[in-house]
Amino acid sequence: MNLTLKIWRQVDAKDKGKMVDYKVTEISGSMSFLEMMDVLNEQLVNAGEQPVAFDHDCREGICGMCSMYINGEAHGPDRGVTTCQLHMRMFKDGDTITIEPWRAGAFPVVKDLVVDRSAFDRIQHAGGYISVNTSGNTQDANAIPISKQAADTAMDAATCIGCGACVATCKNSSAMLFVGAKVSQYALLPQGQVEAADRVRNMVAQMDLEGFGNCTNTGACEVECTKGISLDTIARMNRELMKASI
Ligand code: SF4
Ligand code: FES
Repeated sequence: MNLTLKIWRQVDAKDKGKMVDYKVTEISGSMSFLEMMDVLNEQLVNAGEQPVAFDHDCREGICGMCSMYINGEAHGPDRGVTTCQLHMRMFKDGDTITIEPWRAGAFPVVKDLVVDRSAFDRIQHAGGYISVNTSGNTQDANAIPISKQAADTAMDAATCIGCGACVATCKNSSAMLFVGAKVSQYALLPQGQVEAADRVRNMVAQMDLEGFGNCTNTGACEVECTKGISLDTIARMNRELMKASI
């Protein structure tokens, strides 16, 4: 495949940034999107130009780093995959592909396609954990009965990888699907009950402090979520917050 790429280039956080056109040739349909980006960067380096900065780590859909807005969709045209899992067979010869960073005030651009998603880390630090007594009297987790339904729903929520596609997709740049998933993963388990009220209060307060928008039930986040996190998690977070407030 021969492709035209329109890529957002921005030297640093202060730079205004602009779209720049590039050509790549002989791209195989079996390549991942990031491998195609590697081909472009090799080309740029060989020509003495600056390679395009983009985030990646695991390259297997686990770390949530490879945030890219591809042809107007977070993580591109395929469903339930991250950019590193997106295959070039989703495109055809002669295509023009537009590649941009996440667009959200709470995720400022660092360089090119790299954004600062540390707002998510601060929300996690505010309550996305449980305290465990490690004095030697710790109860074996396997000895605590948990219903299959609660375990499955908590596990579904725990699959959130913090990629931020929900925020990038939401017209309000809301982080509620992310926070809803993190709250839900503990709210359904006995281990999460001790700090339940503080957790939801602190995580929601931090989310607001970071400048994320509110949820207006559009549901775009659920459609674009790479891990299929349900809008039910937002409803659960709201219920938990209500419970914690009274
Ligand atoms: S809720 Fe989905 S889209 Fe949002 S951060 Fe988690 S995995 Fe990514
Ligand atoms: S590089 Fe880890 S999810 Fe894509």
